[in-house]
Amino acid sequence: MSLVGDEMADAERALAAGLSSVVPAVSAISGYLVASGGKRLRPLITALGARAVGHGGDLVPLMCAGEVLHLGSLLHDDVVDGGIERRGRPAAHRVFGNAASVLAGDFCLARAVLLAAEGGGEATVVALSRVVTQMAEGEVQQLLFAGRRDLGLDQYFEIIERKSAALIAWCASAGALALGDAPRARALADFGRCVGVAFQLTDDVLDYQGDARQTGKQPGADLLEGKLTLPLLLALERSPALRALLDAGPLDATRLPQALRAVVETGACADTLAEARERVGRGVAALDALPESPHRDALQALAWTLVERVR
Ligand code: IPE
Ligand code: IPE
Ligand code: MG
Ligand code: MG
Repeated sequence: MSLVGDEMADAERALAAGLSSVVPAVSAISGYLVASGGKRLRPLITALGARAVGHGGDLVPLMCAGEVLHLGSLLHDDVVDGGIERRGRPAAHRVFGNAASVLAGDFCLARAVLLAAEGGGEATVVALSRVVTQMAEGEVQQLLFAGRRDLGLDQYFEIIERKSAALIAWCASAGALALGDAPRARALADFGRCVGVAFQLTDDVLDYQGDARQTGKQPGADLLEGKLTLPLLLALERSPALRALLDAGPLDATRLPQALRAVVETGACADTLAEARERVGRGVAALDALPESPHRDALQALAWTLVERVR
C-alpha cells in the first residue's frame, strides 16, 4: 500500500467524482456502495501492475475503471443472488429496490468503460469491454446451475474465470496495455487470472467459514441460494449425510449451520484453499517475466495475502 499510497488516495477522491451523474439518484446508489467500504483490491492491483512496467503517468482513471466496473457487478450480483448484506450494510437493492439497483449498475458498467478509454486508450477499452461481456456470461452460467448438482469442475472454473478473474486480469494488465507493451500485459493478465481464480475460491470458502464482521456479508448465502461452488461440489461427493440433509427440506435456522459444518468437516474447504494456493503459486511465477521491482514484489506478496484471509 505504501508504494502506491498517493495513487490510492487520489483514486479514492476520484471515485465519487467518477460516479457523478446529472441524475442525483444514480450517484446516490453507486455512492452508497462506495461509502460502505470494500477492500479496493482492484485499484491497488491496477496501480502496482502499472508501476511495475514503468508507467509513470496518471493512473487514477484506470484505477477507478476497475473499481467502478466491480461496483456495477456487485449491484447486479446482489439482486441476482438475493444478497442481504454487502460491505457490512444492507445490500443496495434492499435500500433502493431491485429496478433502481440494476439500472445504477448499468450506469457503472458504462462509466467504467468510459474511464478506461480516458485512462488508457483503445487497447485498455477493448480489453475491458471483453471483460464486461465475460462477467455477464459467467453470472448467467452460474444462475442456470442454481439448485442443481450436475456442475462439472471444468464448468465451475470456467464460470469463476469469467465472473471474477477476468476483471482482476484486466486490472493487473491495464497499465501495460496503455503503454502498448503486449508481452508484459500478457504476463500481468496471466498473473491476474490465476490470482482472480484463487480469490474467488477463497471467497467461496469464506461463505462456509467466514466471519461477517470481516467479510461484510453473511456466510451461508451460497448454500441458501443453491449455488454450487468448489467447497460444496467436493463436500457433496464425499458426504452422503450432507446430501441427505440438503434433500430433507429447506435450510432453516437449525439446518443451515448444520449443513455449513457438514461441508467444512469433509475437508472440502481446506482442499479448496489448497487449490487456491496452487493457483497463486502459478500467478506469482507468471510475474517472473517482469523486471525486478518493489512493485512486482508487492503484487506477489499481495497475492499470497488474498488466500490467507480465512480465519
Ligand atoms: C466480492 O469482491 C466479489 C467477488 C469477486 C468475490 P471483493 O471481496 O473484492 O469485494 P469488496 O470490494 O472488498 O467489497
Ligand atoms: C462474485 O461472486 C460476484 C461478481 C463477480 C459480481 P459472488 O456471488 O460469490 O460474490 P459475493 O460473495 O456475492 O460477493
Ligand atoms: Mg453474490
Ligand atoms: Mg461469494
